[in-house]
Amino acid sequence: MRILFVGDVVAPQGCEHLRRVLPAFKKMQNIDFCIVNGENSAQGNGILPGSCDHILDSGADLITTGNHALKRVEIEKYFENENIPVIRPLNFHRSAPGKGYYVLERKGMRLGVINLMGRIYMDACENPFDEADRILSELNSQGIKNILIDFHGEATSEKRVMGFYLDGKVSAVLGTHTHIQTSDAQILPQGTAYITDTGMTGVINSVLGVEIGCATKKVITGLPIHFKNPEGECQMDCVIVETDNKTGRAVSIERFNIQ
Ligand SMILES: [Fe+2]
Ligand SMILES: [Fe+2]
Repeated sequence: MRILFVGDVVAPQGCEHLRRVLPAFKKMQNIDFCIVNGENSAQGNGILPGSCDHILDSGADLITTGNHALKRVEIEKYFENENIPVIRPLNFHRSAPGKGYYVLERKGMRLGVINLMGRIYMDACENPFDEADRILSELNSQGIKNILIDFHGEATSEKRVMGFYLDGKVSAVLGTHTHIQTSDAQILPQGTAYITDTGMTGVINSVLGVEIGCATKKVITGLPIHFKNPEGECQMDCVIVETDNKTGRAVSIERFNIQ
């Protein structure tokens, strides 16, 4: 099974770039399932029905999110609709709308996708390790072997711990949230594909997708600043994970920056 996973799409600029490059890249790479993190795809922040539809129409089979999932109230009805493939972190408080995992099916293949959020330098949420154990036993009881985790977190240590914690239990643990692609893509000893952060789909000359002047003012002054998204050349940061469909073990992980 060949899985394409795309890092956080930022703003309409990132959405437009995704539409430009994703269809051809998917075809060229013979992709079976495409998952895109869309938590920052709306203008401003968060995800809106329009940006969600745009990502799905561009070729994503499923959208994962993160700490910005519920920033915009308009998206709540999408999270609550079982038929719309968009998920939020599983370990959000139980009162949160939406679902934290999703099972994709195609050509007799099944892929379980779980969205989790870290707790170090992040807003409060339930324990992601306990939540992973709970949902994995449910997916295992359904006979699902291929399982991908989008682990949305800030601290590299917490992400690597999650990778080793789930090594051999899932096909891939892929980090999101920092918007900077890390160079540590590897297959862990028990057969789980891992990367600390997949990166971002958005404007290259920016600070994580934010206009440089705004980000600079924010960092230097510490004052509240209204963020703007700049125009400019974009890239789509992503990884392709190939698994043995029968066992769910990862065969390879390769990272890309598509301009
Ligand atoms: Fe993000
Ligand atoms: Fe985030």
